[in-house]
Amino acid sequence: MSNGYRVAVVGATGQVGTLMLGLLRERAFPAREIVAFASARSAGRVLRGAGAGGSDLTVRGLDQESIQGFDLALFSAGGSTSGEWAPRFAAAGAVVVDNSSRWRMQDDVPLVVSEVNPEALAGHRGIVANPNCSTMQMVVALKPLYDAAGIERLVISTYQAVSGTGKQAVDELLDQSHALLHEREISPPISYAHQIAFNALPHAGSFAAGEDHTDEERKLMGETRKILGDPSIRVSATCVRVPVLTGHSEAVNVQTREPLSPERARELLAAAPGVSVLDDPSAAVYPLAIDAAGQDDVFVGRIRRDPGHERALDMWIVADNLRKGAALNAVQLAELLHGQGLRGARRAGTAAA
Ligand SMILES: NC(=O)c1ccc[n+]([C@@H]2O[C@H](COP(=O)([O-])OP(=O)(O)OC[C@H]3O[C@@H](n4cnc5c(N)ncnc54)[C@H](OP(=O)(O)O)[C@@H]3O)[C@@H](O)[C@H]2O)c1
Repeated sequence: MSNGYRVAVVGATGQVGTLMLGLLRERAFPAREIVAFASARSAGRVLRGAGAGGSDLTVRGLDQESIQGFDLALFSAGGSTSGEWAPRFAAAGAVVVDNSSRWRMQDDVPLVVSEVNPEALAGHRGIVANPNCSTMQMVVALKPLYDAAGIERLVISTYQAVSGTGKQAVDELLDQSHALLHEREISPPISYAHQIAFNALPHAGSFAAGEDHTDEERKLMGETRKILGDPSIRVSATCVRVPVLTGHSEAVNVQTREPLSPERARELLAAAPGVSVLDDPSAAVYPLAIDAAGQDDVFVGRIRRDPGHERALDMWIVADNLRKGAALNAVQLAELLHGQGLRGARRAGTAAA
């Protein structure tokens, strides 16, 4: 890698894509050229200062010719775009880091959180998956506890921000709030089944026919086990959408295999990479979504013994869902791949599909 990598950002006009472009610049990722892709609707749009060295980028649509010659492709354009185009980028020689759920549970695709299981990257065959945002922040906080005492069972309630659904949902929350504050009727909801402003929806993600859990809840179960490499962990999850713009909050009850005191858990978390402990409840110090927004770390507080179980702790975990929950981890994986010699991985890899 003498002159830097040629990097594609697919979904470059979206919330996560915009942030990935910013993080590649801020963290000085060694890119010699960045190419922005989005849907045909955005082709030709100029993203001012978004490229390597602050250059402007002109958005391109995806076609077989334009995807040739990349070392790395960071995808955040939804599952169907990833399903179609990630294998094509990989077959053309790029390593793909994909933010969608399309490839996460496939056996030959590593699902990686930079602080938790970086070693899993070594087995990639052209596509690496970035976990779901609510799983991502939780496993960063669980990993040190898992290593110290094992985990038998998790009971999780999430309070998820609307930016996790995409730009349209953010606009919808703001429009509904504005209308209601001015005593006007709201337009029929589009992003969710019900009004999100001034409400809490026990329905983050979607219900398949006959399913009693949302796909978001199933992702928390399956992805947690895959990332921690422990299929025996039992997980109960309720995912709730709340009228917060950015920052997912999670109440997590952790039942460990070995005894673990709240004091020891606090020490382990304070020493863990990517974690900040904010835990002085009598002084009203605990993690808040509005404070986590724009920050890189996962914040943990309200660490306490569960009075209902001698080997369980309760905690409150908050992080920026667009940053550590998506764009930051994707760029951290790109950095790890760079550390392992991206080109070597590319030569050894075969497209995952
Ligand atoms: N938001 C989060 O907290 C979060 C967390 C983890 C993972 N993710 C995942 O990241 C992805 C993007 O999320 P987001 O919040 O950034 O969504 P978003 O703001 O709605 O942006 C979607 C992006 O995808 C592009 N796109 C849509 N259809 C496309 C197509 N057919 N071909 C090429 N590009 C296409 C859009 O381009 P146009 O502007 O041209 O429409 C836009 O750049 C999703 O897969 C999501 O599941 C999001």
